[in-house]
Amino acid sequence: MANIQVDERLRHIAFIMDGNGRWAKKRGMPREYGHSVGAKTFERVVRHCGDIGIRVVTVYAFSTENWRRPQHEVQAIMTIFAEFLGRAQKQAEEYNIHTVFLGDKSIFPPEIRARMEALERDTAHHPLTLNIAINYGGRDEIVHAVNTLIAQGKTEITEDDITANLYTAHCPPPDLIVRTGSEMRLSNFLLWQAAYAEFYFCDTLWPDMDDAAVDAAVEAFYARKRRFGGV
Ligand code: FPP
Repeated sequence: MANIQVDERLRHIAFIMDGNGRWAKKRGMPREYGHSVGAKTFERVVRHCGDIGIRVVTVYAFSTENWRRPQHEVQAIMTIFAEFLGRAQKQAEEYNIHTVFLGDKSIFPPEIRARMEALERDTAHHPLTLNIAINYGGRDEIVHAVNTLIAQGKTEITEDDITANLYTAHCPPPDLIVRTGSEMRLSNFLLWQAAYAEFYFCDTLWPDMDDAAVDAAVEAFYARKRRFGGV
């Protein structure tokens, strides 16, 4: 059981799950193996975040740019995703998780899309939120929001209008964005929502992200002073 607990200051944590490929390569294994272990890590990290009291967890599973990867790697990630969908309902019940997908679902085969929508609908009563960004791009999300507003006939828009039409309209913005795997960039993740987020970068490769590594990120967050543009 967790020994740290968060408060209102950390409602939403987001992860850029980087380093699966390098983790596998270090072990002489194909990149796909890294994604498969990374998926188990993802499920464990979500549970731990729930245990320490975080109400919203977002993970960057697959970007609009990731389709450019070799076909066999894309296929492997999609298979891992389909397997996850197969057990997600049961896990959602067990851990009280409302799962939401961020991104354009229209690219997925009808059967997968129907399972995604069913999971979102059937878990909607749970208090914890898990956002899975898949076929997601931050710029794409903002364009999508603006086009929705144009379709509604708006000729002038406010920040609140955009916020309300993002895929994340149901939750607060991230307080903390964690990126594993040593790179220090946002890679088109939650561009609008990240305006006042704290960032935490670590060298841990995603499959090695254990409870202690999550706790270290949370502790670093609590050592920061957030001013939201004030003094
Ligand atoms: C980045 O590591 C990881 C990805 C692009 C895919 C992440 C996917 C998973 C964790 C599994 C699927 C998740 C779900 C929703 C069940 P990388 O491949 O860029 O690693 P590298 O930087 O070491 O090459």
